[in-house]
Formats: sequence, structure tokens, C-alpha cells
Amino acid sequence: MRDLKSIISQMTLEEKAGMCSGKDFWRLKSVERLGVPEVMVSDGPHGLRKQSGDADHLGINDSIKAVCFPTASATAASFDRDLLYRLGDALGQECQAENVSVLLGPAVNIKRSPLCGRNFEYFSEDPYLTGELSAAHIQGVQSHHVGTSLKHFAANNQEYMRMSCSSDMDERTFREIYLAGFETAVKKAKPYTLMCSYNKINGEYASENEYLLTKILRDEWGFDGYVMSDWGAVNERVKGLKAGLELEMPGSGGCTDAEIVEAVKNGELDESVLDRAVERILDVIFRYVDNREQQTFDLDAHHHLAAEMEKECAVLLKNNAMLPLTRGDKIAYIGGFAKTPRFQGGGSSHINSSYIPCAFDVTSKKCEILYAQGFAHDKDEIVPELFAQAIETAKQANAVVVFAGLPDSFESEGYDRSHMRLPDCQNRLIEEILKVQPNVAVVLHNGSPVELPWADKVKAILEMYLGGQGVGEATDALLFGDANPCGHLPETFPIQLEDNPSYLNFPGDGKHVNYAEGVFVGYRYYEKKKMKVLFPFGHGLSYTTFDYSDLKLSSDTMTDDSIVTVSVRVTNTGTVAGKAVVQLYVKDTTGAANRPEKELKGFTKVALDAGESKTVELQLDARSLSWYNEELHDWYAASGTYEILVGESSADIRLQANLSFETAKKLPFVVTMNTTTAELLAHPELVDAVRAFEQSLKKEDEQPASEVASEAVSDEMAYQMYLASPLRSMRSFSGVPTQTLLDHINNLNAILKKSF
Ligand code: BGC
Repeated sequence: MRDLKSIISQMTLEEKAGMCSGKDFWRLKSVERLGVPEVMVSDGPHGLRKQSGDADHLGINDSIKAVCFPTASATAASFDRDLLYRLGDALGQECQAENVSVLLGPAVNIKRSPLCGRNFEYFSEDPYLTGELSAAHIQGVQSHHVGTSLKHFAANNQEYMRMSCSSDMDERTFREIYLAGFETAVKKAKPYTLMCSYNKINGEYASENEYLLTKILRDEWGFDGYVMSDWGAVNERVKGLKAGLELEMPGSGGCTDAEIVEAVKNGELDESVLDRAVERILDVIFRYVDNREQQTFDLDAHHHLAAEMEKECAVLLKNNAMLPLTRGDKIAYIGGFAKTPRFQGGGSSHINSSYIPCAFDVTSKKCEILYAQGFAHDKDEIVPELFAQAIETAKQANAVVVFAGLPDSFESEGYDRSHMRLPDCQNRLIEEILKVQPNVAVVLHNGSPVELPWADKVKAILEMYLGGQGVGEATDALLFGDANPCGHLPETFPIQLEDNPSYLNFPGDGKHVNYAEGVFVGYRYYEKKKMKVLFPFGHGLSYTTFDYSDLKLSSDTMTDDSIVTVSVRVTNTGTVAGKAVVQLYVKDTTGAANRPEKELKGFTKVALDAGESKTVELQLDARSLSWYNEELHDWYAASGTYEILVGESSADIRLQANLSFETAKKLPFVVTMNTTTAELLAHPELVDAVRAFEQSLKKEDEQPASEVASEAVSDEMAYQMYLASPLRSMRSFSGVPTQTLLDHINNLNAILKKSF
């Protein structure tokens, strides 16, 4: 164990301030005389972007050759924790081999709108899936003592004005949707570092938000690493340091270090706050430095791994008995992506890929294949000759696979998409091909949902997402059945952009963006509104079929501290081996809060040979049933019945069981003059006292209402008015003196106190 405190005690004030910002774009500073070496950080998240040579001031000079693994848009579709661990493990090896101490990722922001330019780097519209998969990614990287930087903390769900815009939302939405993924990753996988986001949250920059960086992150979740800024996210350095932002990246040429020194000297900043920050940074530096591994970085082996992973990620969205194709049939690949696949997005995650075999080359080595480019794949423009050649080729073939997708310029860090469509030239070409060829499959390359106006006319759709540099091999294997598709959608494909819940409030006016849809993000919204979608959350087909049976709960009752194991038997009922993604959703039927129809709370992927059955187990605890209660400032599930739903997608639930939950948690409740009858009657312990009080007010000579009066005020109306009446109204309607009411209120509060 290093004596960090002793090292810090020997540092000058300037050295300590210096440790809190980068030396350049990628390196932290060293203090050689005290044995603190210089360490490097690099992007992330789905490959190593280590800049070769000296860092330039924007960090965009050439980076070393590396392997681009499938992006998070794709790996999320694997629904496979092991796959994410293997990805992290490979990246950790690469970092050790290249002497990179922290890999900047994973990025876990929620895909609030399909338009966010950076969606390809993010996992899902669902925080549970996001949290589970990112935790596995972190565990894999950190198994090599290389740090991760979980980013972008928090509520950074768009690129538009990302450095200044304020993401405005209520506490419940923040906790349930936008923080929950971070929370799981921090608690389960303990990332060495977190990267705060550029944006403000409810008016305060994330980089100086004490509630976020200290209260939630450290005090509640137990984070024990350091927080770094996103590149250039620092607003007021000293305020940030006090709030819990330890490291500023990149450096500021010394100006903000000088501000820290000055603040200590003039008493504005307690030196112990600086010491604590330096200690946290040194601790992470030495976790890496003291555990160096002799690693080699095998580009070919990792390329192979990237291709294998992508086979597990692609989602077969539709298949009307067209796929798998048969080698030797007269098949045409149409679309430039067949020769130049789009496999990653633009910006800081851009990998200098070692080798990118395309689907056309891979397939051509195995069987004859026709090809036509069809459209210019880098812009939205019809090129008449290409168009005509494609139609001719489509006529000659027995089946056509169109390689469609978003061009680079449509999807990148730094700006959002302006619409959800594919380039019009691609849609036009697909429509024209359909006029001459009945057997059309479409392969998609995109990092986020697109509108598919021809979806009901083509026979098959295979979503590859931005699948990394092995996408060509994976596409070939999946199209011809050498691999069986087993990805499932980590997000909903709405029919059109206007259906998306954030539509009216995305991306805001540049100063503020109002998360008005609250917790109803993605399927939580579409299901509640009973809206038709193109493809639902969790959807994914296979070349085989699965049957679900024997749903069992280890207990049909649950309390705050118990765990219930859900088991279900899955059988491969087809003729080929495949992998099923078992999804568990929970539906709250207690009526205690306005909640989504159901929410994902468990999943697992299971490999099954043809005819094979396996029983899988998933665990639930009180948190699985809970929502975030703003009065308690805590997670809460009301006592009552919860439906446990198991299926193959959010829209394909196969089995259901009831779970009865009993909580000892009580919501804060104090009776006042403004408490309504309905609120009183919702508390069983008060009902007798309320009834007794009402009885005591009954007058002996009370006359029943006349017929005319009953017509004007129906029984239902009278009852509803009674429920909605605050206690104070008894003064006006029942002539109850104020003091009598106050005595009644005191009595009710005393009963409540006793029952706590
Ligand atoms: C991005 C981060 C990235 C950093 C360093 C920023 O612009 O938002 O995700 O890690 O640059 O490249």
C-alpha cells in the first residue's frame, strides 16, 4: 500500500493544484521527485483511440491502429452481460499493452430521442439494461487494473448546445430514468473514474453540481474513484473542486491551477479539499501503475473477436421466410455499404481501424454474388446511372439484399440528426427494387432508430447497428445462416419521429430542454399510450423458435429485504441451435403512482440446441418493484400486487404470475386543515376515527334530500365532493367549529404517530 498522504504532504501547493488538471490533451502530470509518474487516458468506449505522437490541442491527430468493436448501440442489443465483459477484457488488454491507464467510457446516457447524434455510443432507452451491460463492460476493463470513465454524468441526451444547455426535469425522472444506469454501474462495478457532462442540470453545470458529484455519487452510491471533467466542461474551477470535480481535462495551460492556488491562499478554498482531491487522483493512478501487465495487443485476434461479437448483436427485425439465404442462389447485394460498411460513428470514439472486410468480399469468397452500388452512400442524392444499374441487377437476381443505412454525416458527436429518415435516395431505390423483385431483404447500418416506410413490403430486415469492423463477416454469417441472429432491440422503433415522447421538447431552445415526458421514455410511453410502434423494445427474431413454460416464483410474497427467484423453462422448438433472450418485466397494479405499464427488471440470454430445454433463474428484490418517491427522497414500492411478466419482447409476453409485496416503509403523512377525505381514507389506520367523527356530527333530525335536490346533486356527485373536501370545509358545510376540527386533526396525527 502506498502512503498517499505522505506523498501529498511533501507536495507544494502548486504541485497539488497541478495534479488536478491534465498536462495536455491525454496525460496527467507527474511529480517525478515523489515517484508520481505521468499516466495517459484515451477514448473509448468501443475501441482504443490512442493518439500517436504528440497530442495536438484538439486531440484529433492520427491515432494508433486499433480494433473497432461493435458500438454500444449494437452491444446493447446483445442483452448479454458476458459479451460486454469480454469486450471490456479485450480493451483492458489493449490498454495495458499500449500503456493507457484509463479508457474513457462506457457512455451510458439514455437514448431519449432517436435524434441524438451520439446515440450510437449509448446503450438503450432503458436504464436497467444500460446499467447491467455497462457494469459488465467496466468489470471486464478493470479486471486488468485499467480504469474506466463512466460518462457523461449526467442527463446529456443531446448534442445540440451540449456545452451550455440545461436539462430540466423533476427529481423522480432524474433518478428513475437518467441516473439509474449510472447508479447500477457505480454500485456493481466500481468504475475508477466518472466523467461529468458538459450540460447543466436544472440550471447548474454538472461540473460544479455538488448534489450530483458528492451527495448522490459518493454519499449515496459509495463511489471511491475520481471525477474528471468532459473535455472543456469546467466553468468555475474552484466551485467545481469544492463540488467534487477532482480532475479537469484537458489542462488549461495552468490558469485554472493558479485559481486553485490563489483560492487556498486567500482562504476561499480549504486546503484539505485540495488534498482530498489529489489523494483520490493518486489512488487511481497507482491502482494502474502498481499492477502493470506484460500484455501484447493482437490486432487479428481482436478483429476476430469483434466479428464474433457482432454476430451476437445484430437484430433480425423481420423475416417472411426469406432468410437464411442459400449459397449458390442468384443473389444480389445492392448498396455501397456492402463494399464500404458503416460501422462506427464520428467524433471522439472514432477508431483508426486495423482492417475492415466488407460483406461483399466475405460472401464473394464463398459463393458468387451480384453487386450494384445503387446510391452514393455518403450523401442523399440520386445518381441516375447507379440507380438504373441497381434496378437491372435486381431484375437479374432471385433475391436482393439492400445494404442501407445512415451516412457518416447523418450521425455524429457534436450535432443531432434533423430527422429520423434514411436518405430519401435509399428509400426511393428500395421502393423501385420492390417493383421488379419480390424477394428483398434490407440490412441496416445505423446507431439509432430510423423510419422504415417500406417495412411491410420487404421480406426481411436485419439491423446491424454500427457493428464495428467485423460487421462484414457478421452480416455474411447471419444472412446465410452460419450464425443465428439473437440480438433484441434495446430501444423502440417508432413508426415516425412525431410519435416519440420527447418530440415536442427536443432539443429545446439551446438554453433549456424540458424533459416534459417525465419517466415515460421509450416503451414506457408507447405502451402507456397504447400506441402502435414499428418494432417494440426487446423485439428480435431468430431462425428458430422458443417456447416458455413453468414460470415459478421461489415465494409469492416479498418484503423490503427479501429476494424472490423467478425461474422459467425455455425450449428451443425449432430445428437449429439458437439463443433466446428471456426478458422479465414488472407491472405495478397497486395504483400508488402514475407508472409505466411495465418495466424491464431482469433478463438473461440462453443458448439452446434444437429441441433442448433449460431452466433459467432471475432475481427480484424490492428495488425491482420501486419507483422514486419525491416526498421520501427514496425508492418506494407500495404494498400490494405486482405482476411478473416473462416474454421474448415487451410486446410478446408469454407467462405471468402475481407477487404480493408488503412494505414497512411509510410515506410521510401529516393531517392538516387541508387534508382531503380521500387522503384520510387511503390510510387504513385512520378510517375508524374518521367514521366515528362523522358519526358524531350527525344530527338526529336530519331530513333526507328532496327529489329535486337529488336530481341536482346525484349520489355520485355528492360522494366525489365528499372525497375531495379538505377538513377545513367542514366549517362551511357542516358548521363544525374550528377548535373541534383541530382536536380531530390532533387525534388523527396521534394515531398516525403510534402506527409508525
Ligand atoms: C467527449 C468525450 C470524450 C472526450 C475526449 C469529449 O468531447 O464528449 O466523450 O471522451 O471528448 O475525447
